[in-house]
Amino acid sequence: MQWYVIMIIAAITIDYLLHRLELVPIGLYLGYAGTILIIISLIYSLRKRKIIESGSPKNLLSLHEYLAWTGSVLILVHAGIHFNAVLPWLAVLMMLITVASGLVGKYLLKKANESLKGRRKELVDSGLSSDEAEKKLFFDSITVDLMKKWRVVHMPITLLMGILSLLHIITIIMY
Ligand code: HEM
Repeated sequence: MQWYVIMIIAAITIDYLLHRLELVPIGLYLGYAGTILIIISLIYSLRKRKIIESGSPKNLLSLHEYLAWTGSVLILVHAGIHFNAVLPWLAVLMMLITVASGLVGKYLLKKANESLKGRRKELVDSGLSSDEAEKKLFFDSITVDLMKKWRVVHMPITLLMGILSLLHIITIIMY
């Protein structure tokens, strides 16, 4: 919750500073920068789905959370309060919902990890190294029932946000 509020405050502060410094046109580039950060953050998904093989899933999830959050701040500044067309407005709305659901997921994952604490000892006792146990626990935590249910909400919104953003970019290139 606090991260959501900080995101909004950060966006308003940067927007205000850009106006004060007469650097408003930079807002345009922040759209590119934010989009790139969010796309880079999705490396986590590639790693989790074993499309790429290197990197610690746990660290990449952290990276996903930080980069997607920062990217969202930049996109909010880019959107500013100048909502002049329906499409970008809807894309931003979907982004706000995606970030909110991402933060809920982070919270659920924390709860899942707490409930799996006992498992760590079991795994280490059964002969796994602490690194291996850590990795196994991570995959256990993202597959608990609650996370599965959460994903049913998070994935379609993310997809919708992606489609709307793509349409926004295509219409900008066309006109
Ligand atoms: C524009 C913003 C965001 C987009 C487009 C996005 C997209 C995604 C996608 C596609 C996944 C699924 C990965 C997979 O199963 O392959 C995911 C998972 C997740 N995201 Fe985000 N996300 C965003 C922001 C955030 C934020 C701000 C947080 C938290 C601070 C967050 C936390 C999570 C968590 C905890 C998972 C679950 C890990 C898992 O189930 O494997 N997301 N996100």
